[in-house]
Amino acid sequence: MAGTSKELPNFTSRIAFILVTAGAAVGLGNVWGFPYVAGKNGGGGFMLIYLLALTFVATPVLMAELLLGRMGRASPPTAMRKLQLEARRPEPWSVIMWAGLVGSILILSFYSVIAGQALFYGFEAMVESFHGWTSEEIIAFDAGYKSDIVLMAFWSAVFVGLTALIVSADVTKGIELAGKWLTPVLFVLLVIIVVYSSIYGDMPAALNFLFGFDHLVLTPGVFLEAVGQAFFTISVGVGGIMMYGAYMGNNVNLPKAVTWIVLMDLGVAILAGLAIFPLVFGEGVDAAAGPGLIFITLPIVFAKITGGGIISVLFFVLLAFAAITSSISLLSPTVARLEEAGWKRAHAAWVMSIIAFFLSFLTVLSFNEWSEFYPLAFLGFDGLTAFSLIREGVSNILLPLVGVACAIIVGWRIKKERIMAALPMQETKLFQVWYFCLRFIVPMAITALFINAVFGG
Ligand code: TRP
Repeated sequence: MAGTSKELPNFTSRIAFILVTAGAAVGLGNVWGFPYVAGKNGGGGFMLIYLLALTFVATPVLMAELLLGRMGRASPPTAMRKLQLEARRPEPWSVIMWAGLVGSILILSFYSVIAGQALFYGFEAMVESFHGWTSEEIIAFDAGYKSDIVLMAFWSAVFVGLTALIVSADVTKGIELAGKWLTPVLFVLLVIIVVYSSIYGDMPAALNFLFGFDHLVLTPGVFLEAVGQAFFTISVGVGGIMMYGAYMGNNVNLPKAVTWIVLMDLGVAILAGLAIFPLVFGEGVDAAAGPGLIFITLPIVFAKITGGGIISVLFFVLLAFAAITSSISLLSPTVARLEEAGWKRAHAAWVMSIIAFFLSFLTVLSFNEWSEFYPLAFLGFDGLTAFSLIREGVSNILLPLVGVACAIIVGWRIKKERIMAALPMQETKLFQVWYFCLRFIVPMAITALFINAVFGG
């Protein structure tokens, strides 16, 4: 049967496992997503709820997904099928992870477009530098890029191609090498930019913006956005993490590894905020510009300050690094599934990335030709482009659904003794809190998420 004959390779050490998984978590979601969402939702108040959502909803699911991967030791659908047969349950668990695999390729399709723009900006900053450019020139530059379908497709292809190259190599050579080196490099680069920002920008304003409680708003919407951001940022809900769980050695202490991964992810998000906002406030640009924060406002700031040429190269290279270590985790599960079906690893990696590349046209076109084409307007989703539909549909519906399914499987469908033996863990306080989160908190929080989506507009 598929996946049973060949043992999966392992990451070579505990540190490698933690760095690689943290690399999968840290990505575009941290560097532009987190600062923007936190700012939009009132800074400190959002931070508080985000920390709660991260701790009691997303992190327990992260541990469940890793555990399922290590127990199943195969690609996500195969792993789930094995566990279902072992637990003698009638429901087809593998269906959940097939949905996850579709989600992973859909995420990869829009992820590569945004990451492609980061690569292009890094390249541009290197060859002609943004130094001395006026705001109008930079805005026109961004608009020019977004209207050039061929250029956008080219850089998306470069990004997806790099991902395929890394995934083609075997686990230790490709994924591990990338994760081991790129994650620490990213940390160092961010710290450099934070130091730079605190010298040239307005750090007190940034701190107040991110951590101040002066515009505290606690609506259900803020709570739900915090849950959504928490899921996306630590990469749970498509099987990428489950795949890494399958590569994880039995010597890895799960609660410890999970703690490190989440702390690193949170650390990078906060560092990104501290890198970006002092510059934004120092120059008086709009903090809530969203994706534009990176591709428009930041180059405007970099253009004005001394050393901005080098800083902009560093920044966009960093963003591309962060994105690559995440996209690897998006491509690996489907590739592993195809390998089980007898495909060569490289062959599977290239075929899947070509599919992701073709799907990325839905995103590319959403920025130009289709910018006013709302495919599901007739269903009431007016104003959402193909890109928004994919991004929001996957993040807000698919990730929470797969996540809650994993929580329910670990919490309710597999015997508690089997879970404790697999961790392995005694029935400590920590175990009880985790188990309670999986059984009650996660399903309730996700149910609230959907009720809000249906009735909240
Ligand atoms: N977490 C990554 C980010 O913050 C994106 C990502 C990688 C992801 N793999 C994922 C999101 C799996 C959801 C599911 O940018």
